[in-house]
Amino acid sequence: MTDQNAAKRAVAYAAADLVQDGMRLGLGSGSTFLFVLERLAQRMKSEKLRIAGVPTSGGTAAAAQKHGIPLLSMVEVDWLDMAIDGADEIDPNKNMIKGGGAALTREKIVAAAAREMVVIVDESKFVPVLGEKFRLPVEVLTFGWRQTERAIADTGCAPSLRRTASDDPLITDNGNYVLDCKFDGITDPKRLHDQLNAIPGVLDNGLFVGMAGRVIVGSPDGRVRVLP
Ligand code: A5P
Repeated sequence: MTDQNAAKRAVAYAAADLVQDGMRLGLGSGSTFLFVLERLAQRMKSEKLRIAGVPTSGGTAAAAQKHGIPLLSMVEVDWLDMAIDGADEIDPNKNMIKGGGAALTREKIVAAAAREMVVIVDESKFVPVLGEKFRLPVEVLTFGWRQTERAIADTGCAPSLRRTASDDPLITDNGNYVLDCKFDGITDPKRLHDQLNAIPGVLDNGLFVGMAGRVIVGSPDGRVRVLP
C-alpha cells in the first residue's frame, strides 16, 4: 500500500470508529471513503454493529452492497446521524472543494441532512486558498449548457466540460454535465458559492462552506489528528 493509501485508510478507519450502533449515515464518495465501508463491514461482523446509509453516488451504492451494508434512500429519512466524506481541497476555515468524483450535488444534500459531516482527508488536501490548483466542479443541466458555461466564465474562471476516458461528456448520476472551473484562487468561497448557484442552469457547485464538522487528517506514516 502506498503512503497516501495508508493515510486514507487510517482516516477512514478513524471515522468509521466514530459510528455508533443504530446510526443512519450519509455515505460519501471517492477513494478515501471506500475504506470507511471496509471498516464498517468489519465492525458489523465483529461487534454486530447495526447501521444503514444513504449513498451519495452509484459507485458508493455498489461498493456498500458488496460489503453487505444496508442502504436507505433519501426519501426514507428526515435526517441522518452523521455523514462521512472526503474532499478535494480544504482550507484553514474548513471550507472545501468537492466533486472530483462528480457526486457533489448528492454529497451536499446528504451532508446538509446530517447532524455532523465528518471529513476525512490526507495532508495533501490542505491548501491556504481554495481553487489555486484544483478546478471547481459545477454541475449544470445539459439544456443550454453553453450559455450556462459563459455565465460561469463571467464569474472569473475558465470552465471546461468534464469528459470520460473515451472523450464523451461525463454524465452525472443526476443526468447532467460537470464543468471544471479554473480560478486563480477563491478568496471568498461563500460569495462565489452563492453567485454560481444563482446562474440559470447551475444545479450546484463543489464549494462546501461552513459544512464540515470534525476533520480527520492523515499523515503518510498512518498517524491521524482530529480538527474539532
Ligand atoms: C466526489 O465527488 C468527491 O467529492 C470526493 O469526496 C473527493 O473527490 C475526494 O475523493 P478522494 O477521496 O478519492 O480523494
